[in-house]
Amino acid sequence: MNILFAVSEATPFAKTGGLADVAGALPTALAERGHQVHLFLPLYREIKEQEKELHEMATISVPMGTEQLFGSIVNLPSKHPNLSISMVRQDDFFDRPFLYGPADKEYPDNGMRFIFFCRAVLEAVAALELKIDIYHAHDWQTALIPVYLKTLYKDLPLYQGGSLFTIHNLGYQGIQSKELMPLTGLDWAEFTFDRLEFFDHLNLLKGGLVYADALNTVSQAYSREILQAEFGFGLETVLQQRRDDLYGILNGVDYQEWNPADDPFISNHFRLGRMAGKKSCKTKLTSAFNLPHKNQQPLIGMVSRLVTQKGFDLILPLLKRVAEIKAQFIFLGTGDPEIEDALAKLARQHPTQIAFIRGYDNRLAHLIEAGADIFLMPSHYEPCGLNQMYSLRYGTAPLVRAVGGLDDSITSFNPKTGRGNGFKFKEYTHTALEQTPKEALQLYHEPQLWRKLRQNGMRNDFSWTQSAAKYEELYTKIESDRS
Ligand code: ADP
Ligand code: GLC
Repeated sequence: MNILFAVSEATPFAKTGGLADVAGALPTALAERGHQVHLFLPLYREIKEQEKELHEMATISVPMGTEQLFGSIVNLPSKHPNLSISMVRQDDFFDRPFLYGPADKEYPDNGMRFIFFCRAVLEAVAALELKIDIYHAHDWQTALIPVYLKTLYKDLPLYQGGSLFTIHNLGYQGIQSKELMPLTGLDWAEFTFDRLEFFDHLNLLKGGLVYADALNTVSQAYSREILQAEFGFGLETVLQQRRDDLYGILNGVDYQEWNPADDPFISNHFRLGRMAGKKSCKTKLTSAFNLPHKNQQPLIGMVSRLVTQKGFDLILPLLKRVAEIKAQFIFLGTGDPEIEDALAKLARQHPTQIAFIRGYDNRLAHLIEAGADIFLMPSHYEPCGLNQMYSLRYGTAPLVRAVGGLDDSITSFNPKTGRGNGFKFKEYTHTALEQTPKEALQLYHEPQLWRKLRQNGMRNDFSWTQSAAKYEELYTKIESDRS
């Protein structure tokens, strides 16, 4: 199958969150299954700076309202013969210091930037003479691709492939002023309640939900949750209407990137049966975060975008009472300045128990996975979540809320049966969160049980092979439903 994979970030080129991890791994997993995959990304400044081998393949002229904007397609060398990596170059839009804007601020023209990107990708299909069977778009930034395929490009013979739209996070919808409608080139007839209109605004994500041949979320639980008002962000009715075409496929883990046995970011490697290195990682981690080393206490780590989605309205009150908890906490992240300030203040108040590094640092993220005993993810909602699955491989017990992908990947450890790979609580309340670390702390002091818990997690296999096979099945279904 010829698959076009359009996305706004992908490792190792540009990353702000888990979307990049998925887009970095899934195309290769599909290529390994024999498919021809064409990955498209914007050519951001950081990619231009990192990558020396950029080959210009074509210039493109992209209609934007009544004007034409020029851009080009540059290719990067790919490690797999079945995978091509193309970047849309338009320096006014993408040669900027950030992908979407600084910290919690968006560039004001993000709508325009990604309308351009979607259209540019479709123009590139003609310019590069690609024959595409499936267009796979992700999140609001590429949601117009399925819309265009069913409208402006519908009757063009080159664009007869099917489309899949993956929802990685319904909380980000790319809501724009309706004044951008003319720029999209779409008819105003598309600006209705059952199509792209949303409270008198243009909702790009909604376009993907309405027009793609099939939809999926990144876990089964999340595909059910978003049908309810609590998780639907106002789009639950649209999703209910598409219920029959909505699937859930759990993300996988790239074990080449996340493997404690040969992780280049840690100096003491470990694996099942040879766990000594993990102890050294814990010492290195506490030193890196300037905490006194306390081996008798569990070290609870978290690597996250600092946004309410991740459960900080539960975490901050818990940390205020840290003196009552016999554990140390380590946080790495950037995001909402209020959360950053609150964490920094708590770390100053409790310098032997809480440490916080404000920043984005892949090396430290790996060190936290390796050195922590417990990984904290009490998310309000979580479409999939990757860190809980990384933690399992590093023998770090995830402590999660039973929601979305966290619920699908983590089962509470049962000391009687010895089954389970983490700690899980259901209600989004302070009491529920406070109770779970207590249980975890108790278990930490029972070395045999703790070892069992770790082993269970390290034996789990969330590799991309299974998820890629499910995507393949879904692509095939889309193709056969269309023929
Ligand atoms: P989300 O995509 O909602 O942010 P995920 O759990 O799917 O959540 O993925 C987050 C990814 O981003 C993980 O690979 C995580 O390690 C990484 N990450 C998040 N914040 C940081 C940070 N401050 N430094 C390094 N990596 C980070
Ligand atoms: C989103 C979600 C996260 C998911 C990631 C990759 O950013 O918030 O839960 O793991 O996308 O699919």
